[in-house]
Amino acid sequence: MGSTRPISILPFFSGSRYDVGAMQRSMRILGIESSCDETAASVVEAVVRNSKIVQLAALSNVVASQVKIHAKTGGVVPEVAARQHVEAIIPVVQQALREAEPRKEKREQSRMIDAIAVTRGPGLITSLRVGVDTARTLASVWKKPLVAVNHLEGHIYANWLATSKPIQFPVLALIVSGGHTELVLMRRHLDYRIIGATRDDAAGEAFDKVAKILRLGYPGGPAVSKCAARGNPQAVAFPRPMIDSQDFDFSFAGLKTAVLYYCRDFKPQTSHLKPDVCASFEQAVVDVLVAKTIRAAKKYKVKTVLVGGGVAANRRLRDELGRAVRDTLPTTYYLLPAAEYTGDNAAMIAAAGAFRAAAKDFTLWQEIEADPNLSL
Ligand code: KG4
Ligand code: ZN
Repeated sequence: MGSTRPISILPFFSGSRYDVGAMQRSMRILGIESSCDETAASVVEAVVRNSKIVQLAALSNVVASQVKIHAKTGGVVPEVAARQHVEAIIPVVQQALREAEPRKEKREQSRMIDAIAVTRGPGLITSLRVGVDTARTLASVWKKPLVAVNHLEGHIYANWLATSKPIQFPVLALIVSGGHTELVLMRRHLDYRIIGATRDDAAGEAFDKVAKILRLGYPGGPAVSKCAARGNPQAVAFPRPMIDSQDFDFSFAGLKTAVLYYCRDFKPQTSHLKPDVCASFEQAVVDVLVAKTIRAAKKYKVKTVLVGGGVAANRRLRDELGRAVRDTLPTTYYLLPAAEYTGDNAAMIAAAGAFRAAAKDFTLWQEIEADPNLSL
């Protein structure tokens, strides 16, 4: 079970939880995430001034990863994942509470929570149900309000944990995960317009499949990226699917097939060519993501470009999108989540949950339902 150290609380925070004079108070959200193969819990503190969240900080961020278990099968077996969630969820929640308030007794630790936020979807239904049922039970026993969060909005709100400056709207969010590749326009908080999405494979999925082709192991994205660091990104001219199409959609299935055919013909699996194939594939994905994101940012005149999801950990993507924003949109703010908030975690769910709680968007524990196909 991994966790990050608690981040110290904000300099301007008064110390009392409610400071009526300054119309400022703090709110603590317990986040729970179990949509795929990470069981996660986190306590996030939000500072609310004049009904607006002005700062967020993660007091704990605990993730129990199932990577080693799924590595044996080369992918997530839903039944196995759900069983792992059932075993891990209570210890993970307990650890998140303990790390957020180490000096308090167990009973006191739950009292400091103002609301519980949980991922309701999208994801694997058997995995989602574990988190949702745990959150629902805790909400009813502790008598706390419950907030239902979309996993993808969590990936977007991971960026709010990255800065103490106010984020300016309109925001363009590039979501790149194992199941999704989407460009999302936000004109205000919690308001999402999907302006582009993948027509077939998600970016992360393409990384995972290429890792399988090249026998690089599981999880694929980090393995391909590590191997790519030693390769020449210009070595193989893989296609850049849909890079010139006037919409903001993506398609990565053809690129993956191009890698498959190249490997069938040249067998880089067993040769020194492997890093070159990885680097060339990675460059093709990044070129498409960067080109479409920049075009959308220009069209919608956004003030902020941000990235979320597991593929946001990719160094080439982080650097090249940053460079493109700086070079072509110098007044646009570019934001990235910290490495620990790129993959699935519960701090991002608590962060999004804080904004929903501030907007009083609660769900009754009797009514919350996991939805594997939930869209933004
Ligand atoms: O957001 P995430 O943790 O889970 C989903 O919501 O799907 O994303 C996981 C995806 C996987 O496909 C994984 O291979 C990919 O993110 N990934 C990466 C990197 N780290 C994780 N892809 C490319 N480069 C990376 N460094
Ligand atoms: Zn995710």
